[in-house]
Order: sequence, then structure tokens, then C-alpha cells
Amino acid sequence: MKPMNNNPVKPLLTVNDLAAMKQRGEKITCLTAYDASFSALIDKVGVDMMLVGDSLGMVIQGCDTTLPVTITDMVYHTRCVSKARQRAFVIADLPFMSYSTPANAAKNAAKLMQVGGAQMVKLEGPRFEIVSFLVDQGIPVCGHLGLLPQMINQLGTYKLQGKEPAEAKQIMTDAYQLQQAGAAMLVLECVPAELAKEISTQLSIPVIGIGAGIDCDGQVLVLYDMLDIGVHKRPRFSKNFMAGTDTIEAAIDGYYQSVKQVRFPSAEHSF
Ligand code: KIV
Repeated sequence: MKPMNNNPVKPLLTVNDLAAMKQRGEKITCLTAYDASFSALIDKVGVDMMLVGDSLGMVIQGCDTTLPVTITDMVYHTRCVSKARQRAFVIADLPFMSYSTPANAAKNAAKLMQVGGAQMVKLEGPRFEIVSFLVDQGIPVCGHLGLLPQMINQLGTYKLQGKEPAEAKQIMTDAYQLQQAGAAMLVLECVPAELAKEISTQLSIPVIGIGAGIDCDGQVLVLYDMLDIGVHKRPRFSKNFMAGTDTIEAAIDGYYQSVKQVRFPSAEHSF
């Protein structure tokens, strides 16, 4: 059907399109988004994916951690984001304690997809049984390894993970097992660039880095960090893309071009 106006409707990216990008060596771009206006702008620039991250607890709700975020919050923000985009693939986080059992995970993932409009859900840690159960129900899953913000009360601080050889080996093994369990994507947060390179090379699924060096298959940043408007200090691995630009759109485009042209993250923003 022809669109009613002169704006061609862009087809929604699928999990297969993202897998194909990895195959042909095209870097995948992703930003977090939490509302319709930013969603439309990020989509207009051409960013491939938007993650409705539970980081919204920190950047939208002003909390110190992501732990207070509820599934109701996540569904609300996911719906705002998914309604406003034409092309970008939308991933939504399962928040703290919303995937404590397979049944709990399936019920909450269904809300993110049916009401929120997410195309994939993300969960933290080596939760192979949960991943496999969700995948069996037809729910695409993104794993998340390295720094796990939902574990902050066990970790004590947000710091680099996988520095010691034994830790690195465990992350490598967990990554492989998440893929075996059926995860279609993996986010690696705050790990040494060499480890992320090894994992991205070994895995067939796209590996998206945040503080994980330039050799991942794609990159994600928290939107408010890269626009330098967050209430918390910007992490070392992020970059202020507003510097030297006049508009938010130009900053997002600067990020998009830097990732596609394999210029971000540089050594300064890697470990
Ligand atoms: O919640 C979030 O924004 C995330 C990213 C840090 C990857 O999980």
C-alpha cells in the first residue's frame, strides 16, 4: 500500500537484518530511548536499534540504581518508544526481579512485547534456563554480561569486569552458553576490549558493546550520557557527542557516523 503522504514508510528492522549486519561486517548502532520524541529523532537519524533500558531508573526517575524500576514502568516507556519509530529495532529490559522464575519471566516479557511493542527483551547475567524458556515461547532474547547493574548491591561499585584471567574465562564461557540457550544478541558492558573482541569473534550472534572496545559488532550508549545531560557523572567509556554540535540531531548523527565508520569507541573510551 502506498503511504498517504510523501514520507515513505521504512520497513521495521528484524532480528535477521541485525544478524546479516554482523555477517557483512556492518557495525550496528544502538542508543537507549525512553520516550516518543527522542525515539522519533533517533529513528530519523537512522540508528538501527533502541534499547528501552532500565537505566531509565537513573536518568529519568533520578534513582541511584536501576533496582526501583518496575515492569509497569518498563511497559509504559517501551510503548512510548515503539509507537514513535518506523525502522529501528526495539529491545526492552526486563527489570530487577521480573525474571526470577521462567513463568515470571514469560509473563513479564509478554507484557513488554504485547503492550509495549518490544521486538526483543534483555536480561542480565548467565540465566540460561530463563533464556531457553523464553526462546521456546517465541520471545527473542538479548543476554547481558560483564558489568551487571542489577547486581550493584553484590558488586559494591560499578567497575570493570573480566580483568582477571579467571573472570574473563567465565564471561567467555557464559557468553557461549547464552548463545547455546538461544539468545539472539548479547550486550557486553564494561569489559576489556581484548575480551570483547574475542567474544565477538567466537559468537555467531551480534555482540553489542558499552565500554567494551571497538571490535564488538555494534555499540550502545545511554542517550543522556552521550548528550551530556544526565544527572549522574558520565562514565569514562561514554562520550559527549554534543560537544562541537548545535543540535541534538547532529549529536546523534555524530554518534551514528562514528560507530558505522569504526571511529568510536577510541582507546580513550575503552579499557
Ligand atoms: O539499561 C541500560 O541502559 C542498559 C545499557 C547500559 C546497556 O542495559
